[in-house]
Amino acid sequence: MASTRELTTTFAEIFGPKKTTHYFSPGRINLIGEHTDYNGGHVFPASITYGTYGAAAPRDDKKVLVYSTNFEDVGVISFAIDQLAYDKKDNWANYVKGMILKMQEAGHTIDHGFELLVEGTIPNGAGLSSSASLELLVGVVLEDLFELDTDRLELVQTGKKVENEFIGVNSGIMDQFAIGFGDVDQAILLDTNTLAYEMVPVKLDGYAIVIMNTNKRRELADSKYNERRSECEEALARLQTKLDIHALGDLDEETFEANTELIGDDTLIHRARHAVTENQRTLKAKAELENGNLEAFGQLLNASHDSLRHEYEVTGIELDTLVDAAQAQAGVLGARMTGAGFGGCAIALVKEDTIPAFKNNVYDTYMNTVGYAPDFYVAHIGSGTTKLD
Ligand code: GLA
Repeated sequence: MASTRELTTTFAEIFGPKKTTHYFSPGRINLIGEHTDYNGGHVFPASITYGTYGAAAPRDDKKVLVYSTNFEDVGVISFAIDQLAYDKKDNWANYVKGMILKMQEAGHTIDHGFELLVEGTIPNGAGLSSSASLELLVGVVLEDLFELDTDRLELVQTGKKVENEFIGVNSGIMDQFAIGFGDVDQAILLDTNTLAYEMVPVKLDGYAIVIMNTNKRRELADSKYNERRSECEEALARLQTKLDIHALGDLDEETFEANTELIGDDTLIHRARHAVTENQRTLKAKAELENGNLEAFGQLLNASHDSLRHEYEVTGIELDTLVDAAQAQAGVLGARMTGAGFGGCAIALVKEDTIPAFKNNVYDTYMNTVGYAPDFYVAHIGSGTTKLD
């Protein structure tokens, strides 16, 4: 974890000594409710203590200078406050540009430059939403430095807009929402259809959530993600020829199974079945967690992975190996992939005193099958994006 003193020192080394303000924005895990957020279903994510730290100071001119300790070789990136076109060579700074541009487009006055130092602790490319973390970090920096009249939901929706319209990833709202609204030891049950949400205490009673990183490069992730989205849209359009629904999340399992003929294509039926059943599982899982029934909660995690593997087909050998190995360990109540899939991370609900053996055994199996090492981190659920000090 970066302390505010370290941030100030690093900031001074890069940009020269100045009075800085400090911020933190978390990453996220999703407990359950995967690939439901663009299907009008429920998600159940939580913000974690791994995240993105920032130190910022205003400038009198129109220049924005940004530097990330995670991309030292890229160095300081600079652009003007009125030159915000996407530019590949600006690398991670495109997220900063996108946030400024979208906030300006919404009518907010951002009329002078600033310096921003960024230091991330989210493992790189792990599918724990480092980009949404950065978007919300920048949102809060802008809100603070320019005294913007905005609210958390607007920052969350702006982050999604940046992802969809500026970066070109067609993602749903889960990541930004989890990061913007997260809180210590709470998960968020979010209805992505209405944006109504409920904070649910995560009491694990001697168990911990272990994040398992496949360390697989997520190469085809974006194109495959968009393909799944279109498949769901097509299945929905076919169901709508007879059913009065406006998202797959509107359906219960019985109504869905009684109407698969309307879809008439095996692949599309599998995709839609996942969206429908996963939404139902998410609601059940929330109830089980609230009732302290961790075993039933764990079973639902397993069922979720099964559906993502066989119906939605977004897992792959790396995630399946981790999850199969995890589920087979003593002291494990459940395990599943988390996030978009195709690599990235899985989570497991593990009895705390069995964690060392759990890690050793899952590591060995993964090494033998996949040929390179996974990483493990114990997840702590921490605050949403916030100003520090
Ligand atoms: C990615 C997207 C989210 C969500 C998940 C899958 O993390 O950014 O919007 O769709 O995949 O649940």
